[in-house]
Amino acid sequence: MTIERTRTILEDLERTLLWFMRKHKITHDEYRCATDILVATVKAGEESLLYDVFFEAEATDIGNISRQGSVGAIEGPFYLPNAPRLEAPYVLPQRSGEVGDVLLFRGRVTSPDGTPLAGAELDMWQADAEGLYSNIHPNIPEWNLRGRFHSGPDGTFEVRTIVPPPYEIPKGGPAGVVLSTLGRHFFRPAHLHLKVRHPRYGELTSQLYFDGGDYLNSDVANGVREGLVTQLVRRDNPNELAARGLHKPYFEVRYDFILVPHQAEDVRRRA
Ligand code: BEZ
Ligand code: FE
Repeated sequence: MTIERTRTILEDLERTLLWFMRKHKITHDEYRCATDILVATVKAGEESLLYDVFFEAEATDIGNISRQGSVGAIEGPFYLPNAPRLEAPYVLPQRSGEVGDVLLFRGRVTSPDGTPLAGAELDMWQADAEGLYSNIHPNIPEWNLRGRFHSGPDGTFEVRTIVPPPYEIPKGGPAGVVLSTLGRHFFRPAHLHLKVRHPRYGELTSQLYFDGGDYLNSDVANGVREGLVTQLVRRDNPNELAARGLHKPYFEVRYDFILVPHQAEDVRRRA
């Protein structure tokens, strides 16, 4: 972002907020109440949570207008770089007896013309069966349900994890106060987070939801978009279970990622 663009945006933000204050005849008490809420979110470590609930989907939609390839999705506040690199066969790090139904997530990474991309890195993170994220919420082992793995020579990948539940925004903090003041509920639909990278292609931030799940039409962060909702298929064939060393039915989800070469991204951005 150039200094000129930063200055233009900051000046317009200032103008827009001053116009907004005059429009609503904001009193000094109301002004102080707003700054107190912002300070409280920082003290509670909820500032990204609050901003991402209200604004990240808009920035993502704007990015999607000029994006070829798979639709991009909100990252949310819980991504952490440098998750453990996994060894095949890929299983996201988890506690022994991790609660939740087993989920097999598989798919393929290709370029827009369908060429398989070998060695693409998939960086995945998700909530546990209680809707909590490791390295963020206490009492969960470090890097639980977070990991990086690669597509194979034919662009395909497969990783084993658990089916996450819907995620509930913490109710007790300042973000919760803002949402309850607005009369909103606190839930996001169940989802998997991924970043997909390849040296010659632009990074994709994705988030996948499950068809038929709760809150798909009322996500508190308004992050669900066409093309991000997958089919969760239940598998209970005894032979399939035995082949995978499983003793109870599991679920399977498929999603194919399309990355865009750097050059094509640059051309579209300039257009
Ligand atoms: C999430 O994807 O986990 C998330 C996104 C926005 C706000 C809070 C959480
Ligand atoms: Fe999330």
